[in-house]
Amino acid sequence: MQYPGFTLWFTGLSGSGKTTLAKMVEAELRSRGMKVERLDGDIVRQSLSRDLGFTKEDRDKNIERVTFVAKLLTRNDVVVITSFISPYREKRAEARQEIGRFVEVYCKCPLEVLIERDVKGLYSKALRGEIENFTGVSDPYEEPENPEIVVETDKETPEESFRKIIAWLEGHGYIPPKEQGYYSEEEEELVEERLRALGYI
Ligand code: ADX
Repeated sequence: MQYPGFTLWFTGLSGSGKTTLAKMVEAELRSRGMKVERLDGDIVRQSLSRDLGFTKEDRDKNIERVTFVAKLLTRNDVVVITSFISPYREKRAEARQEIGRFVEVYCKCPLEVLIERDVKGLYSKALRGEIENFTGVSDPYEEPENPEIVVETDKETPEESFRKIIAWLEGHGYIPPKEQGYYSEEEEELVEERLRALGYI
């Protein structure tokens, strides 16, 4: 059975875990035989949006382009996984409207934690005033009001957040359930034990 496409739209501050989780979900869905395309801020900004910076106008254009691509793929039954800060509520609402089948995941993490972690070293630069319009520091981030999924990446492990997302998608019929083995784990152990006792393995 062919599952219809949808877009899994990650939003959240820089360093909040969008890319990490997007990659985990991508691998899982591929292993379940789905067609997946991942669109990531850091990659798109080196290609499709190479000409854009981080003013509100440029961020809006970036999100419009991503929305356009995600819409085309989604209507062809590809699962699109996007990871962009996408700080403006209005643009995310437009994306939802345009794409139709749209699941918003908010990667929630307090700014203090992100500043502390500072994986890319960008927060310290932004705090020193070396990067303009930096989201969370000198530029706004408008939290989602009704995201389908919220992951709290300072409290959950990546694995826990990943499980939450997969469970939601399964529970709402967006993705097929994982193929179950013929035997349960306990049964498999038992079978193995017997075979070993009989000297077969
Ligand atoms: S968005 O606002 O247009 O959605 P996008 O997700 O594409 O942003 O790009 C964010 C990434 O660009 C960040 O993870 C970071 O690595 C880099 N970056 C560079 N300058 C900025 C800035 N001023 N604000 C936020 N991110 C920036």
